[in-house]
Amino acid sequence: MSGRFVTFEGIDGAGKSSHIEALAQWVRERGHEVVVTREPGGTPLAERLREMVLVEPMDTLTELLLVFAARRDHLAGQILPALARGATVLCDRFTDASFAYQGAGRGLEAARIGALEQWVQEGRQPDLTIWFDLPAAVAAQRRAAARQPDRFEQQDEAFFGRVRNGYAARAREHAVRFVRIDSEGSPAQVWRQVVAAAETRGWW
Ligand code: TYD
Repeated sequence: MSGRFVTFEGIDGAGKSSHIEALAQWVRERGHEVVVTREPGGTPLAERLREMVLVEPMDTLTELLLVFAARRDHLAGQILPALARGATVLCDRFTDASFAYQGAGRGLEAARIGALEQWVQEGRQPDLTIWFDLPAAVAAQRRAAARQPDRFEQQDEAFFGRVRNGYAARAREHAVRFVRIDSEGSPAQVWRQVVAAAETRGWW
């Protein structure tokens, strides 16, 4: 018995956080155990790595290696055990974020990221990826109203335009597991699309 592994992606400011909590509630109401977690992070060690990645200046390859080190600890210590007992895992970002941010955003070759993906995940991919998509300019306006920016949130609009294109490329390559959510609308409009994506799968 394996539970379902669902990841949530999108550029900073896409507004995914509140929908993850709402979907957790929705799945619980249908009688399933749910684990809500995030990357980088999700275990004590990975949360410490997150602090470094979001705050300390570092070169891009170091950044990539640290997010994958965090991912390995998170998979082994949290995600895989939860899936093995049949829980639904809802994870705020996963490897598609590495392709989008360190790859498309910062310019690392996808092949190098793909090698780490294979090494660290041993073939395990999310069952469903809900991608909150919106133009970089709209996301920038939303971020301006939010809190103190971290190392990624300080990047300019061109960076987030590249990150968005990186997600679009991953969505094309992994068309079966990706669902694109048009995130420009109101929270209620976005939520309706999230529920539709979950219902279509028929897992809960
Ligand atoms: P985010 O998930 O947006 O959390 P919060 O809502 O608390 O800001 O922040 C995580 C940041 O980490 C985000 O800017 C993207 C970045 N990131 C990467 O660059 N690579 C990765 O592989 C992952 C998982 C995240």
